[in-house]
Amino acid sequence: MRKIIIDCDPGHDDVMAILTCLAHPEAFEILGICTVAGNQTMEKVTKNILKVEDYFGLDIPVYKGEAAPLVKAPEPQPAAHGESGMDGPVLPEPKRTVEDKDALTFYKETLEKEDSVTIIALAPLTNIALLIKNYPELVNKIDCISLMGGSVYSGNIQKRSEFNIYHDPEAARIVFDSGVRVIMAGLEVCAAGSILLSEAAEFKNGGYASKLCFDLMEFYKLYAVKRGFDRTPIFDLTPVIYLLKPEIFKAEEMRVYIELDGEYCRGMTVCDKEKENPHLVLLDTDREKFIEVFLDALKILDEKYLA
Ligand code: RIB
Ligand code: CA
Repeated sequence: MRKIIIDCDPGHDDVMAILTCLAHPEAFEILGICTVAGNQTMEKVTKNILKVEDYFGLDIPVYKGEAAPLVKAPEPQPAAHGESGMDGPVLPEPKRTVEDKDALTFYKETLEKEDSVTIIALAPLTNIALLIKNYPELVNKIDCISLMGGSVYSGNIQKRSEFNIYHDPEAARIVFDSGVRVIMAGLEVCAAGSILLSEAAEFKNGGYASKLCFDLMEFYKLYAVKRGFDRTPIFDLTPVIYLLKPEIFKAEEMRVYIELDGEYCRGMTVCDKEKENPHLVLLDTDREKFIEVFLDALKILDEKYLA
């Protein structure tokens, strides 16, 4: 059982990753959810996770994080996630509210109290970089950071940059150079675990959790549909599914350098096979086994949460 903190910018794929954690209480004790500016503004992504908690009647504390990257300006992505950051589902204004303390205070207090915490990072790394910079003495309490971010050779926001790293490259460099073990799920391994649009269509016939994912996918899949693809990565699932089933992945120990200023490659992750300060870079996965973990998680939630 891992005690985990989820750092996210919901975000369609963030939500489906969080649901996969929720389906496995035997593997994850969720200590809290921290939000950060990324897919949309910090206010919007925070409202989105509160709406999802109301939908399931959850009681996981939510802490507001940073509203802007360390240096550059926020760059929300309405094309990918809509103006709300979670277009598709029609959910009421949240009744649940955020906790009084901010994300940084929550991280500090939790790491002071706990022996070992795993951070699952599904967004720009601003919150986590501030934690490391302000409380270096607590870094040794972080077992690892399993994150969605970066790439080995591709890009989704620039030719060679992935959005979570691109949005706050200064934060990413702090995290990757901190000495904390990073398990990096980049664009390539996320693509290898893509869901078929035909598989996602089946969510319509599922239960309460599946129906939310159907509504999420109806918007989220549009990027793939417009390009004639038969599948789409649900990016943020990958760092969660790695922690549940590492054996279905191919991975290599690599040093990861973060490019800060390239005109064509801001936020590029330069992955090198050096032994010093190695992180684990995920390279490939078995698509059927990967998606089976997610579909099984939805079955568990459909049986547990009835409308
Ligand atoms: O590049 C994909 C990542 O950026 C995902 O985490 C998605 O939610 C966005 O945050
Ligand atoms: Ca995300």
